Amino acid sequence: MARIDLRGLPIAITGASSGIGYAAAIACARAGMPVAVSARRADRLNDLVTLIMREGGRAVAVPGDVASPEDCARLVDATREAFGSVYAVFANAGYGIEKPVHETTDQELRDLVETNFWGSMNLVRAALPHMLESKRGHLLWCSSCVSKLGIPRMAAYSSSKAMQDHFARAMRVELAGSGIYSSSVHPIGTISEFSDSLKSRSGLTKRAFGRPDKGLFVQTSEHVARAIVACLRKPRGEVWTSPTMHMLFALGVAMPGLADAVLMRRARKRDRQR
Ligand SMILES: NC(=O)c1ccc[n+]([C@@H]2O[C@H](COP(=O)([O-])OP(=O)(O)OC[C@H]3O[C@@H](n4cnc5c(N)ncnc54)[C@H](OP(=O)(O)O)[C@@H]3O)[C@@H](O)[C@H]2O)c1
Repeated sequence: MARIDLRGLPIAITGASSGIGYAAAIACARAGMPVAVSARRADRLNDLVTLIMREGGRAVAVPGDVASPEDCARLVDATREAFGSVYAVFANAGYGIEKPVHETTDQELRDLVETNFWGSMNLVRAALPHMLESKRGHLLWCSSCVSKLGIPRMAAYSSSKAMQDHFARAMRVELAGSGIYSSSVHPIGTISEFSDSLKSRSGLTKRAFGRPDKGLFVQTSEHVARAIVACLRKPRGEVWTSPTMHMLFALGVAMPGLADAVLMRRARKRDRQR
């Protein structure tokens, strides 16, 4: 397949006020895409728009909450109004909780699914009719490497990432031949605000992971952003940003007993850190 020239193709990105979404917005703008950025912190979005425009890119800030279907529809409408169409969406907004299931309240579980899964669906549902009409488009879902396994203490989070993964995959096949791609993105531990947010939401005393130079399985948001632009240029079903972790998770799926033993060790270690 020929590489897609991204110049002039508009993208809407949620969770753009920090981390992966922020880095993806800059990377997409540098690839020539007009970018509509969304999150709840409007001041951060305005600073991001200023940065992109100073570099000669096109950007618009559309503050909103992904859990609201109306806010996601507004994001898609604003993208079309500002740039004439919506070519791609990156459903990226999300957060994690690390707690045993019996300590996770119904409300915590519902809120997490509302943001991580429904937040993606709300954006996809708003954009898809326009993509179907123009017979082209790209849905990108920010899932995670943990979408492939139920992670102890992270059942809610890993399940929400599995839902994104499964919808992305099913839609990839449903939409085959329509000109619309659906890709799931599977980052590993990534330097962003994710780890601090998870720590405070879960009552932990230690962050989930440290700096990229301190651990084997940690990477930067810019690394993930580069992989996202590469997937927009040359669409693929799954975007893995660490071949090693891709292999380990595939092994874990094929050998559940081994995966359980490794996950048990990790869970005990995390218990000692609580
Ligand atoms: N960092 C990792 O290790 C890692 C690994 C695998 C997958 N991921 C996934 O990558 C995605 C981005 O995370 P990140 O690492 O970049 O974390 P981050 O720095 O904490 O960014 C999360 C983004 O989501 C936004 N957000 C959260 N709830 C929202 C809501 N209800 N409505 C609108 N925006 C909301 C936040 O903005 P506001 O607070 O301003 O709304 C922020 O921009 C997430 O889906 C996460 O699950 C992360």
